[in-house]
Amino acid sequence: MTTQQKTQIAGYDFGRTSTRSPVTEEELDKLLKTVLFTDDDRAALRMAGDVLEDQTDRVLDVWYGFVADHPHLMAYFSTPGGEPIQRYLDRVRPRFAQWILDTCRRPFDRAWLDYQEEIALRHTADKKNVTDGVDATTPIPLRYLVAFIYPITATMRDFLAAKGHSAEEVEAMHQAWFKAVTLQAALWSRPYARENHA
Ligand code: HEM
Repeated sequence: MTTQQKTQIAGYDFGRTSTRSPVTEEELDKLLKTVLFTDDDRAALRMAGDVLEDQTDRVLDVWYGFVADHPHLMAYFSTPGGEPIQRYLDRVRPRFAQWILDTCRRPFDRAWLDYQEEIALRHTADKKNVTDGVDATTPIPLRYLVAFIYPITATMRDFLAAKGHSAEEVEAMHQAWFKAVTLQAALWSRPYARENHA
């Protein structure tokens, strides 16, 4: 995906958001160590980016299908009265696809940290619905963000294996993906955490 295409995704504000993450590089480094993230994981994620580049649409079909199959999750893409908001689903989808590639390819630097904070806020009452101008149920409880790590990781294996890589390479990509998603869910917990409870 070219930079030009990226800038055309509605509501995708990477590098342009005024949101700043209070997480320092040093704190990020400790979090990376906590999920056992290594240079090998970085390399495996880069490989995963190439493997997933032309599959993001199919990945999104699976993830959206998973949400659609669970009314308690679909509620957050629906009005408080329970009416799904198709425009909302349609607008978030390309941002989600871009996030897959960002997770694989972006350096975990200041701009990335700031956008992590922005994505976190977009799941909370502070910013959910704002980007797309919708009136959907809010906020998404933190426990679902944490629990979602599993389906978002488990469903990825088949896609990582779809381009003929060795079993070891697929395993390395899958483990690196798992770590990167866990890392992000951990960062996204920050605005949910009670003050003075870190
Ligand atoms: C590991 C867990 C999760 C990941 C990786 C994830 C990922 C994402 C990403 C990448 C975006 C778009 C960010 C952007 O605007 O650029 C997003 C937005 C959104 N996600 Fe999640 N998500 C997770 C959990 C959940 C759960 C459990 C729900 C509940 C259904 C959910 C519902 C939504 C909704 C409704 C939006 C749109 C928010 C808005 O109004 O801007 N997400 N998510």
